Amino acid sequence: MNAPASSVHTLRDGRIVTIRPVQPDDGPRLQALVLRLSPESRFLRFMEYVKELSPAQAARLTDLDYHQRMALAAVIDQAGEEQVIAVARYASPVGNDPGRAEVGVVVEDAYQNLGLGTHLLAQLTAYARQHGIHTFTATIYPTNKRILKFIQSSGLAYQRRFVDGAWEVTLSLSAPNSAHKP
Ligand SMILES: CC(C)(COP(=O)(O)OP(=O)(O)OC[C@H]1O[C@@H](n2cnc3c(N)ncnc32)[C@H](O)[C@@H]1OP(=O)(O)O)[C@@H](O)C(=O)NCCC(=O)NCCS
Repeated sequence: MNAPASSVHTLRDGRIVTIRPVQPDDGPRLQALVLRLSPESRFLRFMEYVKELSPAQAARLTDLDYHQRMALAAVIDQAGEEQVIAVARYASPVGNDPGRAEVGVVVEDAYQNLGLGTHLLAQLTAYARQHGIHTFTATIYPTNKRILKFIQSSGLAYQRRFVDGAWEVTLSLSAPNSAHKP
């Protein structure tokens, strides 16, 4: 399965980032990203107090087939080295439905609230639609008010229900993502 080409994106503050698929050799870059995240962002992304990614976890997060398991990274150039500053990913199936995928997004704290998460989710949504995904699911920690605003600003129709102390959110990919401004 061919991965999509890379593209450039301008953040709200004018900085330019490259959006590209996560690659098999990105493990150390994902580990470095997680180390740079604030404890709050790490907790909200992983729903537990993860301090760092083990090499095995990083390998699992770079093991993609670009169809049922897909991830997009936002990268910048840092002294000649690529640095991953955000990732949006999905993995299907959820249950027995190959059209349902678990979605996750994380943006490094220094780059949050600049439209990057919204852009990555829109790109991932378009890609997922082309690969037969009709629904994203996510488990959201109840105090994560920001992610609910973020989901609302994605323009995707969503439903949520409270299960075992967390929100189970279902996003429908069947309608175009009206919030996305290319
Ligand atoms: C949630 C997250 C991915 C959003 O990414 P982001 O790049 O900061 O989001 P955007 O800049 O695209 O903002 C989208 C909307 O989210 C909301 N939002 C973003 N940052 C916010 C903040 N600091 N306070 C309140 N609302 C905020 C706003 O409604 C914003 O709408 P706007 O663009 O009209 O202002 C990012 O904050 C993050 O990585 N959080 C930690 C991990 C996490 O919670 N992941 C989600 C669970 S998988």
